[in-house]
Amino acid sequence: MSVPVTDIQSAREQYTASLRAAGLDAPWMEPGPLIKPKASAMRARAWRWRDIEPLIHRSPEFMAPGRGAERRILRLDNPGVPERTSGHTISVAVQYLLPGEIAPAHRHTPNAIRFMLHGEGAYTTIEGDKFVMRRGDLVVTPSMTWHDHGNEGAGPVIWTDALDSPVVRYLENLAMDPYEGEAQPVRAGAPARHLHYRWEAAHGELQRRQPDPFDDILVEYRDPATGGSVVPALGCYLQMLRPGVRTRAHRETSSAVYHVVSGAGLTEIDGDRVEWGEGDFFAIPPRARHAHANPGTAPAILYSVQDVPLLRALGFYRVES
Ligand SMILES: [Fe+2]
Ligand SMILES: [Fe+2]
Repeated sequence: MSVPVTDIQSAREQYTASLRAAGLDAPWMEPGPLIKPKASAMRARAWRWRDIEPLIHRSPEFMAPGRGAERRILRLDNPGVPERTSGHTISVAVQYLLPGEIAPAHRHTPNAIRFMLHGEGAYTTIEGDKFVMRRGDLVVTPSMTWHDHGNEGAGPVIWTDALDSPVVRYLENLAMDPYEGEAQPVRAGAPARHLHYRWEAAHGELQRRQPDPFDDILVEYRDPATGGSVVPALGCYLQMLRPGVRTRAHRETSSAVYHVVSGAGLTEIDGDRVEWGEGDFFAIPPRARHAHANPGTAPAILYSVQDVPLLRALGFYRVES
């Protein structure tokens, strides 16, 4: 004796309704494997300095740094990623301050990393230690440290911020506190922590390193206190592609956002050719096959922020050449 199809269907519908009422989900009710491969929400893309520069210079017409919005930033937007940050783990922005302006002191759960791009007179005060930021300097603001920025120069200053805020958001721990008052009092003497990585030191290190086939010459900024990455989830790198170099391709489970400090070249990302020049940014999503080339006659210098430390800590870092 066979059970009518309509009876099976209605039994299944009743069962599904009972599951829902009990707050349960039976993934085997859907066709396909239990764990379905998911394409990366983060896409390969480039952001051009020729687009960014005029727009960041116009931003003071529409925004003054102060309580509320806090920072005059333009965030690099990768539309597929939640909240449109530049990567699913890394948020990169360009920040702008006019002479005399202060970005008021606050603290927040995300770690932040500044890399100085243009102008003289920018500083960041972290827990009372003031760090003057010159072109190519990197300054780290660890999670929950008080920090304010200012511009004591005669012209505008521009730097790039990289934050692990998408990771913190995923972990449901995004939080920020305003400081009482605009700027912290500055303490005299040596800083309490090593948070300022100078351009001269990183660039000098590049000249001493041996090339590797995938990145040519690569230096990771390392926290001298721990020997590890500058913040727990993200690593920062300075890289030189010597004239004529074409690197071998590889895939990594990590992702990266690059900034071109100087020079020009191109990166092939999953078969797409991304040509880049000074000031440009580009993003490499997880597992994308990528190789860099510098066909020119001058060295190309790239700064990048990558989520390699996070992937390593979780046991998910893999590389395939
Ligand atoms: Fe901040
Ligand atoms: Fe790579």
